[in-house]
Amino acid sequence: MVPFQKKSDGVIILSVSSTIPQVQPLSVGEALDQLTAAMATREAARNAAEWLVAALLGCPRLDVSQRLSDLLPLEQQRQLISWRERAAAHEPIQYILGETEFMGMPIKCDARALIPRPETEQLVEQVLADPLLGIISEPHLVDVGTGTGCIALALAQRLPTAQILAIDASADALTLAQENVERQSCAGQVTLQQGDLLDHVPSGMAHLIVANLPYISSSDCEQLPPEVREHEPLQALDGGMTGREMIERLVAQAIDALQAGGALYLEVGAGQAQDVASVLRDHQYQAVAMMEDYAGKDRFVKGYRP
Ligand SMILES: C[S@@+](CC[C@H](N)C(=O)[O-])C[C@H]1O[C@@H](n2cnc3c(N)ncnc32)[C@H](O)[C@@H]1O
Repeated sequence: MVPFQKKSDGVIILSVSSTIPQVQPLSVGEALDQLTAAMATREAARNAAEWLVAALLGCPRLDVSQRLSDLLPLEQQRQLISWRERAAAHEPIQYILGETEFMGMPIKCDARALIPRPETEQLVEQVLADPLLGIISEPHLVDVGTGTGCIALALAQRLPTAQILAIDASADALTLAQENVERQSCAGQVTLQQGDLLDHVPSGMAHLIVANLPYISSSDCEQLPPEVREHEPLQALDGGMTGREMIERLVAQAIDALQAGGALYLEVGAGQAQDVASVLRDHQYQAVAMMEDYAGKDRFVKGYRP
């Protein structure tokens, strides 16, 4: 790492290896402006730029505004050039950083899987509040469509006696999930499986099944912002013609995979909860309920096997 520099009469005060090409001095404030301009079409571009600059400096985001006239170390300037190009190509900042946070846990994150969303943290909170988990000493849970593994890992962290089967159809997503499982030292609790929904899950094995499956209709996928459409995997987004195709298939399968009294928890798209709740009732789930997200929209549906 190159030591921090200060401008003096336009000269860089620093002895740098002669093999490193000269780069014009650039202040933190200028770096912030460049990144903000590169993301000009995005909502909260300045905020995103601050996260990137904070990562470049290795400091908390709130400190960036105190350091605007500092000069960026050369190594970080080179990193900035690459990040600026990626940001201008609409790459999400979580992919640029290679990491995000889910329920306070660092999660490795790249184009192999969907970026975990805040609503999904609420889904996990709903699951954790289920009374079943208070009475079963060694619960067996299944996370269908695990992506980065964020749901399975958050459950494993908070339920140390639970066993969690995390399933995904995507081999790429599972490789990333495996890296996250190792990073969180959860291999003893989380088992990864490639499969189509619950195809390989034996009858009656699960106390609780949780899923955040693709729920955007194929036609709506084409309208998504470029950060999502051009960078996140389509397999993680496209829920077929109605958007509910994958969810409805899972609802039909899960009643068999659950133990009697077991619960199914689903995250669904805005406007889908009523229809999904009806499908649960059609399949004889009991105590079917819809829960709101923080924006007051019904975004979660649960039901119990009789
Ligand atoms: C919306 S993403 C959710 C990822 C992660 N659970 C999260 O909440 O961030 C949906 C995931 O379901 C997976 N998936 C899509 N179709 C599937 C199928 N038929 N069987 C299993 N997983 C599937 C995708 O590969 C993707 O990882």
